Amino acid sequence: MPCLRALAVACALFLAACGGAESPATPDAAAPAAEPAAPVEPAAAPVEGGATAQLAPDPQLQAMLAAADLNKGKVLYLQCRACHSLVPEAESGKIGPTLYGVLGRAAGSIAGFAYSEAVQNSGITWSAEQIDAWLTRPSQFLPGNKMVFVGIQNPQDRADIIAFIQAESAKPAAEQGAP
Ligand code: HEC
Repeated sequence: MPCLRALAVACALFLAACGGAESPATPDAAAPAAEPAAPVEPAAAPVEGGATAQLAPDPQLQAMLAAADLNKGKVLYLQCRACHSLVPEAESGKIGPTLYGVLGRAAGSIAGFAYSEAVQNSGITWSAEQIDAWLTRPSQFLPGNKMVFVGIQNPQDRADIIAFIQAESAKPAAEQGAP
């Protein structure tokens, strides 16, 4: 919980910084009173946020992953499939980035995909813990992201989906069961 709060604060700060940057920062101008440091790309923020945001391995989640029902995960994954592919190619024609190999991948790192700044600059790497927290309530985990998905409340359902994504990512492309 303290972690999440710290993350929320980091994000809020970050969003504030972005808001500042959006008004095409007249670098000199006499006025801009507040947020003096804001207009510059906040190089330090992702690192800082990342350090705070990276969740530690959670034994309970690991146990649920170990006991995951992949068939159920496949069915539950249908919710994701509307927007995500599970193929290695970056270009999937879907509204979301491919989830092939997402575990261990830096957030916002599929080349050519137009991520939100919230994801792009989150500084996190998608571990199971991170995806679990994201899927619980995406809008809360990274405020300002553009994944329009309310979240999944059942922890085992989330674990089943994560395990399914992991299993699919381990398969060679030709055997992909879920496009
Ligand atoms: C309505 C469409 C939609 C649905 C449904 C959806 N997503 Fe997403 N997802 C997105 C979009 C769009 C993004 C990019 C978010 C951003 O840049 O803010 C995203 C991003 C992600 C990311 C981050 C990927 C990266 O490369 O950083 C993960 C992980 C993810 N989604 C997992 C899931 C899972 C698992 C499900 C199903 C339980 C799901 N999503 C359902 C649209 C969706």
